[in-house]
Amino acid sequence: MRPVPDDLEAVDLTDPSTFIEHDQYAMWRRFRAERPVYRHAGDPGFWVLTRYADVKRVYRDDQNFTSERGNVLQTLLAGADTGAGQMLVVTDGPRHTAIRKLILESFSPRALQPVMDRLAARTKSLLDELIGAGTVDFAAQFADRVPIATICDLLGVPPSDHSLLLDLNKKALSSTDGGDFTDVSHNARISILYYFAALAQDRRDEPRDDVVSALANTLVDGQPLSDQEVALNSYSLMLGGDETSRLSMIGSIKAFHDFPDQWRALKDGSASVASAVEEILRFTSPAMAFGRRTLADVSIGGEQIAADSIVTLWNTAANRDESVFPDAERFLIGRTPNRHMALGYGPHFCLGAFLARAELGAMLEVLRGGVSHIESCGPAKPIYSNALTGMSSLPASLAPAI
Ligand code: HEM
Repeated sequence: MRPVPDDLEAVDLTDPSTFIEHDQYAMWRRFRAERPVYRHAGDPGFWVLTRYADVKRVYRDDQNFTSERGNVLQTLLAGADTGAGQMLVVTDGPRHTAIRKLILESFSPRALQPVMDRLAARTKSLLDELIGAGTVDFAAQFADRVPIATICDLLGVPPSDHSLLLDLNKKALSSTDGGDFTDVSHNARISILYYFAALAQDRRDEPRDDVVSALANTLVDGQPLSDQEVALNSYSLMLGGDETSRLSMIGSIKAFHDFPDQWRALKDGSASVASAVEEILRFTSPAMAFGRRTLADVSIGGEQIAADSIVTLWNTAANRDESVFPDAERFLIGRTPNRHMALGYGPHFCLGAFLARAELGAMLEVLRGGVSHIESCGPAKPIYSNALTGMSSLPASLAPAI
């Protein structure tokens, strides 16, 4: 790994390799201390926020900061998001509130129970195969399979299509081998949208107890959502729900390996599974960065930020802000309070938070009972992205509990 340059202006935060070549946490320590409200060069340039309080202030304020001109670096720099005003995460105001309510209501106990049952069964059977099996790739053999299947179950995607969507979803957001992936990513996104537009049509004809049926058949302001809106929101749930959860699962294995005392704390019950889940989310923060456009002139940390500026929010930095999280660089599963922002904050707070937590919780329950310790771990393969962080491959060996 290369040292963080003395001159922080030499760091290119648009370049995915920056987060692989440097220790990003060392880099964020420098940004928080030296340039907490930093203007990154470029055309357009953008503001970089790394302190917890500043990131939170922007997340909560949808009057001065809009998501409708993009909420990730790629779309913000492009100047627009094609889903704006239709897809929840890039929609503000009353339309956002109405679509959010519709989706939340579709997570009814009747729709959720079978999804949770399948999650528990899938987690147990996949982990049972890996425990005691020598070195396995925890990413390919477990984490790649559970979140995508769970979100697909929730949406109502048939099991025969799960692997197709996993493949498209991976291509849509990141690349494991570096290089320019713009075209591949674009094509994958289009394919996902076509897939869900077709599924929406099926569900209008024959509704079931799933989220695509709810999106396709519920009226908002007296009107059904268009096929495009159903497709965009299904896509958003899948995109939001798969890779982030996968990365946090993979990261948790590495964290328990690197902090064996924390593994023991999980095993002996001195910290709860629920508390461990929160620390995994904080420590791994797979959704590395989000962003907004300013709707008015604002002042943050003494800096004047003009209207129509791009402001980026670095969760990986904010969640290790020592002024909020003592011993922030340590993985401490009993950490309390633990008000991390791995799932965002405010009006766009993660809609799938319950599912992310349930998936991690189900995994920890099985590991805690079935594994004595994580014998070896790595070398890992990092993902290549300026929006997400984590590993796409993690060799690990899970020793069975006697
Ligand atoms: C929003 C992170 C799992 C669906 C968000 C946001 C973050 C986030 C940081 C805020 C985005 C913003 O403010 O612009 C994560 C992480 C997850 C996870 C780290 C797993 C570890 C999920 C799952 C689903 C999901 C499982 C689907 C069931 C969404 C949606 C939004 C969202 C639809 C937009 C909410 C809105 O705009 O009102 N997520 N997420 N996420 N997430 Fe998640």
